[in-house]
Amino acid sequence: MSDGVASRPLTLAIPKGRVSLALAPLLERAGIPTASLRAEDRTLVRESDDGSVRFLLLKPDDVPTYVEYGVADLGLSGRDVLLERRYDLYQLLDLGVGVCRMVVAGPEGTANLARPRVATKFPRIATEHFAKKGIQAEVIYVGGSVELAPLVGLSDVIVDIVESGATLRENRLEVLEHIADISTVLVANRSLYKLRHQLVAPLIARLEAALTAP
Ligand code: PRP
Repeated sequence: MSDGVASRPLTLAIPKGRVSLALAPLLERAGIPTASLRAEDRTLVRESDDGSVRFLLLKPDDVPTYVEYGVADLGLSGRDVLLERRYDLYQLLDLGVGVCRMVVAGPEGTANLARPRVATKFPRIATEHFAKKGIQAEVIYVGGSVELAPLVGLSDVIVDIVESGATLRENRLEVLEHIADISTVLVANRSLYKLRHQLVAPLIARLEAALTAP
């Protein structure tokens, strides 16, 4: 953890792009001005207009890393990332944003296979899911467009996120099994949660209140 922690403003690691925009209304309700998040530039460190919060704009997969190493006090991370790679973090609040499902999907009518080939961006989640069922899957990592894999014979099925279901439908795939419900979670660095409690606790309380506000 760097020496400047004590003097830096409350620092929040957030996923840039679509998720940060979806999170903005919740942050606003919690009293955090988010105009700087909407600025269309390439800056990766931004401040709320009132100077109370510093935002680090990250790839979604990197949010827990920045929080675990203490360069951010808090972070907003998808549960998928937290399930795929284990982190030593507090998971404080489910923010109810970015709601989707982790599923096994495949061509309509796919039968249960003894040793399925599974394409996925989430090899650990996939391996553990099949292992729990006593099935030793052959898991093939792909970086995106996962739905393509069973269409062209790279895999039998996929493990992936489904949000609207449009990508599956348009590629004639269907959900075969539900693995987990996914949404965005507020995470905290364990030491800083204690060391900087006076700074982080009010923000956590405001986010909690914003979640339950009508
Ligand atoms: C995600 C996910 C699915 C799609 C699901 O991909 O991996 O492909 O969204 O959304 P839907 O159910 O609303 O269609 P993403 O858009 O992140 O792109 P990627 O395929 O490059 O990973």
